[in-house]
Amino acid sequence: MPIEVALPGQTHADALAVPVARPLGGEGARIVDEKLGGRLAKLIESGEFRGDRGEALVLHVDGALDAPRVIAVGLGKREDVDLDALRTAGGAAAHELRRVGGTLCWLLDESLDVPVDRQAAALVEGTIIGGYSPGGWKTQEPEKRPKPVERIVLGHFESPELRTAAERASLLAERTNRARDLANMPPNELNPHTLGERAKELAREHEHLTCDVLATKELDELEMGALSAVGRGSRNEPRLIVLRYDPPDARDDVVLGLVGKSITFDTGGISLKSAPGMESMKGDMAGGAGTLHGIGAVAALGLPVRAIAVLAAAENMPGGDAFRPGDILRAANGKTIEIINTDAEGRLVLADALWYARREGATHILELSTLTGAMELALGDLYAGYFTNDDAWSDRIFHAGERSGDLAWRFPLHERYRRYIDSAFADMKNGSTLRQGSPALAAKFLEEFAGDGPWAHVDMAGPGFLERSRGDYLRVPGGTGYGVRLIAELAREL
Ligand code: BES
Ligand code: ZN
Ligand code: ZN
Repeated sequence: MPIEVALPGQTHADALAVPVARPLGGEGARIVDEKLGGRLAKLIESGEFRGDRGEALVLHVDGALDAPRVIAVGLGKREDVDLDALRTAGGAAAHELRRVGGTLCWLLDESLDVPVDRQAAALVEGTIIGGYSPGGWKTQEPEKRPKPVERIVLGHFESPELRTAAERASLLAERTNRARDLANMPPNELNPHTLGERAKELAREHEHLTCDVLATKELDELEMGALSAVGRGSRNEPRLIVLRYDPPDARDDVVLGLVGKSITFDTGGISLKSAPGMESMKGDMAGGAGTLHGIGAVAALGLPVRAIAVLAAAENMPGGDAFRPGDILRAANGKTIEIINTDAEGRLVLADALWYARREGATHILELSTLTGAMELALGDLYAGYFTNDDAWSDRIFHAGERSGDLAWRFPLHERYRRYIDSAFADMKNGSTLRQGSPALAAKFLEEFAGDGPWAHVDMAGPGFLERSRGDYLRVPGGTGYGVRLIAELAREL
């Protein structure tokens, strides 16, 4: 998205967005209010506009300002204004402008505790992510389609920090929306093969990014018995999609390993899921989508760190050739797995992908997956829960989450959870018959394949794919692009 910085009064926008914190105080809001003859203050006084987080009000202002309309956007209480309030404000303004589109100017507010460059980044991010529409398959006439914001102007004096922060935010928000596009694709269009084609296209966009797609024959040669078994029930054969980012200026002691669950549709397989809500299981590749566009964002930003992304792609279907409960599989690292439930397929495809990422030199692994329904029950649509074997890696992930907006909260990876997956027949089983601790035992399962070195499993079943608006800047059902911003922030701080 084109970003410009211009002094207020010279912005020539279709709408001027004024962030309003309670009590009213920012200079921008005061000047606009003055030019409007005190209308803003009156609206606040009468209680028609309260300045609540995410509240927005459009005023037509013919001639008084350098835009035909003003959008007053609430930030909530002044002392509580944070990046999330600003992102939410961004989303609210984009929503109000959806019938008009065009150029949106944000008046930045020096009186807030958030520095203006971070303000700008959050507003830009919120505007782009909040303006996203998932209805790409609707055949409505062009004039009925929502009109996106096409250009953002920041009403402030120019500074290199401001411009850099805003441009980075714009890039990340757009990559986030591309990840959402992938997660929203229906499973009759997105399958392991077409996902691989998308990954190759992405690699062609960037000089130092390459892509290899491993198909059935190569998976057999690598003896990836777990990924292969999950993919066997479908005519759409599984793939291991590998992207490598190798910039010339990279430090040589770190390779960031990104691993993504990419089940393009999860029926549960022979342990078939029930029908209600099954359509949402097209989003069971949201971890892979975040991983793919996460490494894309790292490449687009030109960050000086080597990275590898491994997407374990399969369609989990029942069928005459499908794997079954009772089967014993051998994963690429040689360990054997008794299948208890074919719906616990994510951990199986990830087992082989984790092994592969380590074999290819990953030093620090971040794995993203929509792994357990119980994690969504626990944390809802806001936080992902993560498990890790390394405290320093944990701190980095937690802080990258808080800064980026892709929130993540640590869960315990205690040794005593291992007993839940002890099998009488094989090295482990893929699930437990007890209705207990399913996110934790899934993490213990994955640990068996994560090799040596820092590793984290991020269970994003809640925030990865929404059933409804979250009430902030993620305003629509479907993919959220979770992981793109987290990965970019982690890679920047590494
Ligand atoms: N993809 C699902 C998990 C999921 C559920 C993600 C709801 C997002 C929303 C996963 O493959 C699954 O089916 N997990 C089972 C595991 C169980 C069979 C051990 C679950 O969590 O119920
Ligand atoms: Zn499943
Ligand atoms: Zn699944």
